[in-house]
Amino acid sequence: TRVGISLTINGQRRDLQVAPWTTLLDLLREHLDLTGTKKGCDHGQCGACTVLVNGTRVNSCLALAVMKDGAEITTVEGLAALSGEGRNSLHPIQEAFIEHDAFQCGYCTPGQLCSSVGLMNEGHAKSRDEIREAMSGNICRCGAYTNIVDAIEDVMG
Ligand code: FES
Repeated sequence: TRVGISLTINGQRRDLQVAPWTTLLDLLREHLDLTGTKKGCDHGQCGACTVLVNGTRVNSCLALAVMKDGAEITTVEGLAALSGEGRNSLHPIQEAFIEHDAFQCGYCTPGQLCSSVGLMNEGHAKSRDEIREAMSGNICRCGAYTNIVDAIEDVMG
């Protein structure tokens, strides 16, 4: 059984046929080749799969694609376009991650970036402690947390 849904993904409208049990994560990675979004735990524990749904951060491994019918999805591949400076410009948070060396292996980075943008959209985490708390759903096995918080603080400040 397949269900017809339409999503706007990184600014592009897509009409899709999906099995009702397909997660948003699997839809992005397996069906649309948007492999920037990573699968870590596949059960809502690590944050590697974080994307933006209508500007809000969501663990895409926990969301069924059919439940997001009509939504606007932004993945790490689409963050640059949000900078408003054309396709080749990085989003300010991406620039800040580079500047502050906010990754080591990079596996968690797409989720960290999307979560950071979601956090900025939410607009209520201001202090360093609040940022750390608000980012606590995004796990980094390399332990780059200090630099990740530095990068977010830099952009939010
Ligand atoms: Fe979704 Fe870990 S893969 S939270």
